Amino acid sequence: MNGAPDDIVLHGPDAFAAMRRAGRLAAEVLDYIAPFVVPGAVTEQLDFLCEEFMRDHGSTPACLGYRGYPKATCISANHIVCHGIPSEKRLEDGDIVNIDVTVILDGWYGDTSRMYLVGENVSVKARRLVEVTYQSLMLGVAAVKPGATLGDVGHAIQSFVERQRFSVVRDFCGHGVGQVFHSAPSVLHYGKPGRGVRLEPGMIFTIEPMVNAGHYDVKILADGWTAVTRDRSLSAQFEHCVGVTETGVEIFTLSPAGHTKPPYKLSRQSDV
Ligand code: MF3
Ligand code: CO
Ligand code: CO
Repeated sequence: MNGAPDDIVLHGPDAFAAMRRAGRLAAEVLDYIAPFVVPGAVTEQLDFLCEEFMRDHGSTPACLGYRGYPKATCISANHIVCHGIPSEKRLEDGDIVNIDVTVILDGWYGDTSRMYLVGENVSVKARRLVEVTYQSLMLGVAAVKPGATLGDVGHAIQSFVERQRFSVVRDFCGHGVGQVFHSAPSVLHYGKPGRGVRLEPGMIFTIEPMVNAGHYDVKILADGWTAVTRDRSLSAQFEHCVGVTETGVEIFTLSPAGHTKPPYKLSRQSDV
């Protein structure tokens, strides 16, 4: 068979331009919130600040009301794999936490997440998990080019993560994104080289590996959203929106502040 499966949209230059704007704004939300992610921070306060920033910049939070989700962001600490609901809980020194934001800007969805280290007392193992998870995302991104397959992307992530003796979560995956939040293709973070959808210029999707320090099994808490590791081991995640170009890949959600993985160097305007 030739050509992309017909449920996968092949986007043109205008879509790429729109995704550049939405992706950049989503990344700016994560840049903006970084100095507030400190011991004692209340997660629903962080959510409020993110929502305010999104709205102040002409966008709306895609998560709020999505399938009944109650908040603007997902904030997932420690053994929470994803979809942590911001609450009155406070972050503690030594926590690792993911903040996942999706903005809707002019009808286009920018979806990205990063890990943050809370305070100075994050364990060596937790730091290594965060590091490996970031590297796995970037290895997945690097595998994206016309002619490669999604199996190549999943394999790049899985083989690296498992070599570090961590595990890749199976129950959640990346997704097509654009003028809808979640669409085809499903982007698995594990796989075999050469298998799966063949990539073509114009495809736009997220890559968002969740990596556990222990077993990959997850369970969903009674709130219907919060996914945690079954063995209560630590979990980490990073997410980018990417587009397949004629020659390779474009990342739409790079940080304008240059933030990649923590620790983030927080500079004030006056320091520049
Ligand atoms: N941003 C998440 C993703 O990466 C989706 C969150 S949906 C929500 O796809 F409803 F939990 F917010
Ligand atoms: Co996503
Ligand atoms: Co997301």
